[in-house]
Amino acid sequence: MAELQELMDQLNEAQREAVLENSHPLLVLAGAGSGKTRVITTKIAYAIEQLGIPPYKILAVTFTNKAANEMKQRVGEMLEGRSDVNDCNIRTFHSFGAWFLRRFGSEIGLMPTSPSMMMTTLLVCWLLVSQTIKSGNLIPS
Ligand SMILES: Nc1ncnc2c1ncn2[C@@H]1O[C@H](COP(=O)(O)OP(=O)(O)OP(=O)(O)O)[C@@H](O)[C@H]1O
Ligand SMILES: [Mg+2]
Repeated sequence: MAELQELMDQLNEAQREAVLENSHPLLVLAGAGSGKTRVITTKIAYAIEQLGIPPYKILAVTFTNKAANEMKQRVGEMLEGRSDVNDCNIRTFHSFGAWFLRRFGSEIGLMPTSPSMMMTTLLVCWLLVSQTIKSGNLIPS
């Protein structure tokens, strides 16, 4: 497992600031290839190693499977040796919505394979994104 300090030392000033700010929701806007994924993966490592957050309480969502797999692999490398690293929930919005409804859909009368389940999955994804943005006041009103 890489030492947390080693991971922190690889960040530039703006990236370090984003990793260390944990008192409120954060919107990171940065260009292609500028180190966004490095911020998120290091933030996950920091949360687990420094803040003592159990991996199973971490949810990281992406738009594509490719991005989710990349993030999973990079977090796995950063925290290699921790037996619980795979407990981090790193997946696409859609996969999270589908999992959430499989787990809790019956509470609102949804059958696992029904067409309404698929539609509701999309709705849950949309709600997840929009409510997350709103709850963090990430969009100026
Ligand atoms: N502070 C840094 N110093 C040196 N290299 C860095 C730094 N931050 C990121 N990199 C490297 O730059 C490359 C792109 O980083 P990363 O994948 O985190 O960027 P990204 O913004 O997520 O890219 P994309 O837009 O393709 O998703 C990687 O090889 C990463 O290791
Ligand atoms: Mg990226």
